[in-house]
Amino acid sequence: MTTLGVIGLGRIGAFHTETLSTLDGLDGLVITDERSEVAEAVAAKHGAKYVSTVEELLSSGVDGVVVAAATPAHAELTLAAVERGIPTFCEKPIAATAAESARLAAVVLKSGVPVQVGYQRRFDVAFAAAKRAVDDGSLGALHTVRSTTMDPAPPPMDYIKGSGGIFRDCAVHDFDVLNWITGQRAVEVYATGTVQGDPLFAEYDDVDTAAVIVTFDGGALGLVSAARYNARGYDCRLEVHGFDDSVAAGWDQGVPLRNTDPRFTSPEDFPAGPAHHFFMDRFTEAFRAELAAFVGVTKGEAIPGATVTDAVEVAWLAEAATESLRRGAPVRLEEVRNA
Ligand SMILES: NC(=O)c1ccc[n+]([C@@H]2O[C@H](COP(=O)([O-])OP(=O)(O)OC[C@H]3O[C@@H](n4cnc5c(N)ncnc54)[C@H](O)[C@@H]3O)[C@@H](O)[C@H]2O)c1
Repeated sequence: MTTLGVIGLGRIGAFHTETLSTLDGLDGLVITDERSEVAEAVAAKHGAKYVSTVEELLSSGVDGVVVAAATPAHAELTLAAVERGIPTFCEKPIAATAAESARLAAVVLKSGVPVQVGYQRRFDVAFAAAKRAVDDGSLGALHTVRSTTMDPAPPPMDYIKGSGGIFRDCAVHDFDVLNWITGQRAVEVYATGTVQGDPLFAEYDDVDTAAVIVTFDGGALGLVSAARYNARGYDCRLEVHGFDDSVAAGWDQGVPLRNTDPRFTSPEDFPAGPAHHFFMDRFTEAFRAELAAFVGVTKGEAIPGATVTDAVEVAWLAEAATESLRRGAPVRLEEVRNA
């Protein structure tokens, strides 16, 4: 019998609950959210058991916990689960700041309790194949890795307010992919950004469009492009260029780009569409694979995705990018790590 708990039932928590409710190897779900009416509705829809507090959930005998609450609650909830020895899956980012992420990771590592982090791109078949191409040496030495994340529309501005900014909230996916794909350590970051959409982005010290250049110690350059307004669809791509060969992930028929070459105009041509609409439809299978992997983790298998150590490296990159945007100048990683 394996039972999981889910804490936080907003956009992603409700989606994870739906995915978990149809996963093999799981016998029950116990769920909670600060908003009891939301939790009760999700429980009724997916046959989960609703409990009214986190404490009740953690002492209900669950074999693992999925932390999908809002970002500011991640560290505290993960810690509460780890203190009880419960294997935990924490959505990205693991804490609101890099320093807090590092403190949390130190406690997690000392405890020996497994914590998997929700960087689902690692479980996407195309991203995983790109990683294999890097690892088998067929690309040769890497020189340029491009990672793109563009949402069709921003999440609610209340979410943006507590998100920590585009680098900590959105580009962390790209930073994790760059670190994972290159296997190199980031040494310097230059980030820039603009606001042309909702003026609240500026009020929250955030941007709606951003670009980042990351220099890695092995010589690879990472180029990140992130945007909150991309009406054609959810655009998530990875292009990896080596001295010997190049590969791309995300160049499927749903890539939200209109090909202007007049020779590519029939519906069978590339990209035939429909364009990916959102991260949920683009990564449905990857989310399913990462949660299935987490069920394995609760049964003693090794963590196959991102660990807290990976998440801390990502968090330092996000911190350096946030600082670079503020200063309008490149920032060395050692500077933020030692601050
Ligand atoms: N992996 C991904 O691609 C991905 C996608 C979306 C969101 N996320 C992450 O998931 C998290 C949630 O995002 P969302 O879009 O679902 O946000 P959301 O605002 O829709 O939902 C957050 C939920 O958490 C609940 N909550 C907050 N604090 C809580 C606490 N202490 N205990 C119990 N419930 C609490 C809120 O009531 C709300 O229902 C964020 O950290 C975000 O970064 C990851």
